[in-house]
Amino acid sequence: MNVLLLGSSGFVGREIRRAFEGDHRVTSVSRRGSADSRAVDIRDSSALRALVAETVPDAVLLVAAYREPDFCEEHPEEAHRLNVEPARALARHLPAETRLLYVSTDYVFDGENPPYRETDSTSPISVYGQTKRDAEVALQGRANTTILRIPLQIGGGASLADCGFIGHMVAALQSPQPQQLDDVLLRFPTWTRDVAGAARFLVERGLDGIFHYSTPTGATRYALTLEVARLLGLPHEHLAPSREIIARKARRPFNSQLDDAKIRAAGYARHTPFQAVVRTVLAELPQDPLRNLA
Ligand SMILES: NC(=O)c1ccc[n+]([C@@H]2O[C@H](COP(=O)([O-])OP(=O)(O)OC[C@H]3O[C@@H](n4cnc5c(N)ncnc54)[C@H](OP(=O)(O)O)[C@@H]3O)[C@@H](O)[C@H]2O)c1
Repeated sequence: MNVLLLGSSGFVGREIRRAFEGDHRVTSVSRRGSADSRAVDIRDSSALRALVAETVPDAVLLVAAYREPDFCEEHPEEAHRLNVEPARALARHLPAETRLLYVSTDYVFDGENPPYRETDSTSPISVYGQTKRDAEVALQGRANTTILRIPLQIGGGASLADCGFIGHMVAALQSPQPQQLDDVLLRFPTWTRDVAGAARFLVERGLDGIFHYSTPTGATRYALTLEVARLLGLPHEHLAPSREIIARKARRPFNSQLDDAKIRAAGYARHTPFQAVVRTVLAELPQDPLRNLA
């Protein structure tokens, strides 16, 4: 398959790229470009159309987005430019026979009535969630279209600082500074590598419609950080649970658990446990002293 991957350098995109490469021809695209990805600004709809016309993909994977809720809350117009307009442009101009996979989020829900199935109404409570919902709406009714909703991502990178949520937890444990960590909002940290497998599964089987994919076990940031402390044998007495929601610019859902029975029934049931993900991510870091602790 000839695959056009938009957002290949990001946290999720780099695992999706890895999952498709080898068995498929992948054209990788990011905003800045690199030695092995093209630089195309997909906010520019003419550039996006030219890219599609040139590469003639069998499948387009739309992964690129502003994924920081606080950034989107402060920059709603800019968030709309990247998180909604490219989806609209692809809905209008992509040949009908080309498969489109769009990566969405659990933040399309308000978190009041979990767990959420694909048939539940969306109710975003942040600009980020609204933009992702608006992109989904733009794609509704298009044939050969898959929407994959995923929760908080955990995964690896070139360094601990590049490891997102896991990097933040380890940094909080390593720093001697007393710190309060959220102990209210339930999170469902799901491995980017498992998500990439889900994306490949859906595209290769040509499954249309909305699919949820999420780890089944939820915990707060505080509880997850303590689990990492136990796993690595690090002290955690300087960390305290915050029983009040720590104020941020964008509201977060209390519990936006995604019920992923539909994708499991379709045949994709991989769920790597949290501890195994943390161990793998740290072990794969090129040079990290924590490797010996894991
Ligand atoms: N991370 C999570 O916890 C999470 C949770 C739920 C859903 N999601 C969804 O998963 C998707 C991927 O998120 P992520 O965490 O991988 O994001 P990310 O790490 O911020 O990566 C964003 C990617 O988009 C590219 N990009 C940004 N602006 C672009 C532009 N104007 N034109 C072309 N490419 C552009 C970036 O390229 P450069 O590197 O060159 O800037 C990068 O490859 C998003 O749709 C997000 O909503 C993420």
